[in-house]
Amino acid sequence: MISYKELGLVNTREMFKKAVAGGYAIPAFNFNNMEQLQAIIQAAAETKSPVILQVSKGARNYANQTLLRYMAEGAVEYAKELGWEHPQIVLHLDHGDSFETCKSCVDFGFSSVMIDASSLPYEENIALTKKVVDYAHQFDVTVEAELGVLAGVEDEVSSAESHYTKPEEVIDFATRTGCDSLAISIGTSHGAYKFTPEQCTRDPKTGRLVPPPLAFDVLHEIEKKLPGFPIVLHGSSSVPQEYVDMCNKYGGNLPNAIGIPEEQLREASKSAVCKINIDSDSRLAMTAAIRKHLAENPSHFDPRQYLKPAREEMKKMYIHKIVNVLGSNGKAE
Ligand code: G3H
Ligand code: 13P
Ligand code: ZN
Repeated sequence: MISYKELGLVNTREMFKKAVAGGYAIPAFNFNNMEQLQAIIQAAAETKSPVILQVSKGARNYANQTLLRYMAEGAVEYAKELGWEHPQIVLHLDHGDSFETCKSCVDFGFSSVMIDASSLPYEENIALTKKVVDYAHQFDVTVEAELGVLAGVEDEVSSAESHYTKPEEVIDFATRTGCDSLAISIGTSHGAYKFTPEQCTRDPKTGRLVPPPLAFDVLHEIEKKLPGFPIVLHGSSSVPQEYVDMCNKYGGNLPNAIGIPEEQLREASKSAVCKINIDSDSRLAMTAAIRKHLAENPSHFDPRQYLKPAREEMKKMYIHKIVNVLGSNGKAE
């Protein structure tokens, strides 16, 4: 058993309490490799923003859970080296799919886990979530649960209402599971293709796709039912069109990639939404910068030559999210 406390990590409890009260959100950035982690820590240290490092199943398969955990431990020391005296860094399991996976992360130094049983029937979601909560809380590890199903591009109708979290269920769910935060569905979705062109309108001036707005009415109803309870938004990349364009200009093929407009995430951050998940934007920043660099420097073959600008681009993007979208800068001085 390794306690996250020995690794210098923190859980989400205090962080979320302050974020809800202060009208900002904590960035939850996924990482799979060293360059992403360096960029996240540099951005958080420079802006003194609390930060959540997320490890998905895909990341564990790609990089190995043990290695990622040691990297997060190293990240705490690296943050201090960068002059961030008291780093507030959470190591979080993203989309845990079983009790066993969550337990192994709790036992192995994670300070927060998500049990995503949202695809199960309601009562089964409650039972599995509660089992994880009961285990994790013994070690002061916080638990995120999910209620509702994120809309996907496969939906026939734009952000079909049936997928949204049902506000009438949230009190019962939160009370019976004891979860520390709740991921909800209000129209966000994973990946770089959040909406089909048919679900969008087009800006007549730029010709760009304009996505349908998030269901703020559902969010506000949930907030009324659970005042001050920490709410999480998954699938919150904005898919910056400058990166899509850069990818496409230098040999990529990402037609109609589209995300959640940043103004809407800014608005959500001011509410009980206190954790915003961003992964795809980091992938896009990295890929755009690598494509550009290699196209402009065809003789380069040392990975450091193209990973350095990629890391810089990701850092710039993370700082922008922290300062201009989530408002978490300066909250971990
Ligand atoms: O929620 C999904 C995250 O973007 C992680 O994706 O499983 O491909 O690492 P991944
Ligand atoms: P994006 O694909 O929008 O970055 O969402 C990431 C996410 O929700 C990770 O859990
Ligand atoms: Zn997610």
